[in-house]
Amino acid sequence: MALHLAVANRKGGVGKSTVSVMLAHSFSVWGGKRVLVVDIDSQCNASIILLGGRGWREARDGRKTISDYFIDSFKTPHTVPGNYLAVEVGDVTCSAGRRPKLDLLPGSLLIDEVQGDLFLDLASGSSGKNLIIDLSRRLGMLLRRWDSEYDVVIMDCAPGLSFVTHAAIAIADRVIVPFRPDYVSLMAIDRISLVAEGVTNLDELSAVPFARRRYVCLPNFVRGRGAERLLIEEVGITHPIMDMQLSHRDGIANAFEWSPEARTIDAKYGDGVQDLRRLHDEIARTVANNLTRAMGHTDDTHRALSA
Ligand SMILES: Nc1ncnc2c1ncn2[C@@H]1O[C@H](COP(=O)(O)OP(=O)(O)O)[C@@H](O)[C@H]1O
Ligand SMILES: [Mg+2]
Repeated sequence: MALHLAVANRKGGVGKSTVSVMLAHSFSVWGGKRVLVVDIDSQCNASIILLGGRGWREARDGRKTISDYFIDSFKTPHTVPGNYLAVEVGDVTCSAGRRPKLDLLPGSLLIDEVQGDLFLDLASGSSGKNLIIDLSRRLGMLLRRWDSEYDVVIMDCAPGLSFVTHAAIAIADRVIVPFRPDYVSLMAIDRISLVAEGVTNLDELSAVPFARRRYVCLPNFVRGRGAERLLIEEVGITHPIMDMQLSHRDGIANAFEWSPEARTIDAKYGDGVQDLRRLHDEIARTVANNLTRAMGHTDDTHRALSA
């Protein structure tokens, strides 16, 4: 079974796509894992970053997008999930110059409309009870169909709480919540945390010990100012926070720069590579048990783990 990571926050511009791509590069290149990125956001930033503009257009022309996958799967039970993936994506290489095993279910500009259509289709053939739960569950099952082919599935969620985003959060082993340390961001963290834990208010949330929570908050855009530190501490009273923080750096912004020439991960991330190393190591440590389970199904991956 693959480890499923959702990168989510109700706010846009907090670094969800950046963190998704950083995790994808580091787990596939440094960790030697088989990684799939699922682009859930209609802004499709992860797809554009991993495929480049032309590659993304080709994927859409070839009906390799999350919308095509959902539409076809609702019409027929016989879809082949692998047919909807763009393979060996991204612009980084392993140290030996090999391509990492990094694939993508490309995003779609139409995913919001498609979800509305799927909902209406479902509504027309049902008694109307539990429709939302039904749709989210079906989408969640479709998102799990790569379980045996990948070690890590990273889902870059949309800022709003769409059906697919709900489904991704529901099936995730861990939900990573990047946030900007400013006051506007606080409320967005509260809301995503309730969804991740399936509770209705912060009182109920406080009854769930930090160690049992599926989500963890990741401070991003940190410039080292005192006010930020206070705010991060304030978030930490209510929510679990990662030990590491992502600084505001040009090298991290480079995650968004697509280069037609593949390069090493160090060359791509420049002054952000240490942040990337810390991000990878901390997430890998916290999901170590799930990863061992995820990779327990082939001899090759067993050998890679114990190497
Ligand atoms: N730590 C960082 N340092 C510098 N720029 C960053 C950092 N994190 C994200 N960015 C930039 O901020 C913008 C928004 O990030 P993005 O990942 O698209 O957020 P989201 O997916 O939450 O909307 C992008 O231009 C990205 O390059
Ligand atoms: Mg995004």
